[in-house]
Amino acid sequence: MTAEITAKPKITDREDIAKRLLRGSAKASYDPLIEIDWDAPVDPDMWGIRPERISLYGTHLWDQLTEAQQKELSRLEVASIATIGIWFETILMQMLVRHAYHNDPTTQHVQYAYTEIADECRHTVMFAKMVEKLGWHTHRLDPVAFHLGRLFKTIAHGPLIFAGALFVEEVLDQIQREAIPDEQILPLVRSVARIHVVEEARHMRYAREEFARDWQNRGPIDKAYSKIVLGLITYYSATRLINPKVYEQVGLDPKEAYKVAKKNPHWIETKTWAARKVVATLNTGEAITGLGKYFWKKAGLLG
Ligand SMILES: [Fe+2]
Ligand SMILES: [Fe+2]
Repeated sequence: MTAEITAKPKITDREDIAKRLLRGSAKASYDPLIEIDWDAPVDPDMWGIRPERISLYGTHLWDQLTEAQQKELSRLEVASIATIGIWFETILMQMLVRHAYHNDPTTQHVQYAYTEIADECRHTVMFAKMVEKLGWHTHRLDPVAFHLGRLFKTIAHGPLIFAGALFVEEVLDQIQREAIPDEQILPLVRSVARIHVVEEARHMRYAREEFARDWQNRGPIDKAYSKIVLGLITYYSATRLINPKVYEQVGLDPKEAYKVAKKNPHWIETKTWAARKVVATLNTGEAITGLGKYFWKKAGLLG
């Protein structure tokens, strides 16, 4: 019993943390339209992401590709991941608007929610411009994920809003943090990562606090329901990171490549590595158990 109590995360005063986050936003927020050189050409000799983070790395299909094709695949995979970022940030913006709608706009924490929406608006445009520059012709999500996203953004409540946000933000953050200092990666991708990492650090702090505060007051039925829905949303986000059409664009059979990537131990390890922090956070609230945990595992997020 004592262990359970001490394992609970420390929760800072809601208004105090929001005030600090707002101060941080005033000091370090960026306009990607000004900060990034959008006219610079994309060098085909550079990587979009570290080769070992590519979904086919280490497989027989990887060995079949020339280095130029591997580099093209790396740029397309980054673009595909950014497309999922756009998908989820759009979902998050709607959820945050609904969250703010129910709360007092004169409070600091609601003003922070509005600030985060403004950040996500800029991020979405930034990702969209990067996707275009990397040569990926955005393909719509498959109908199941598309409609599940529509449903989720309409019905998700407090803990689901913030646990869902934290999942996507942490996964992107890990990949982007690694890219920032890596000189083999395109300057465009590193510049986008730099802006996103700074602003998302505040979003993640906000999401962690809001989730922990809300979660501890939820009853067992609400928690059981939330864990299943969270499992589903993480499953659909993680399994859609790489759109199979990227394989087609480098000359591979998309169905075969999708199957190979799904079983690729390197790719499973990458997903588990990218999700490890959010898994640890949610585990402190025992938010990944039962049927929900099955979906996390099935998505390759738990090793
Ligand atoms: Fe973002
Ligand atoms: Fe965010």
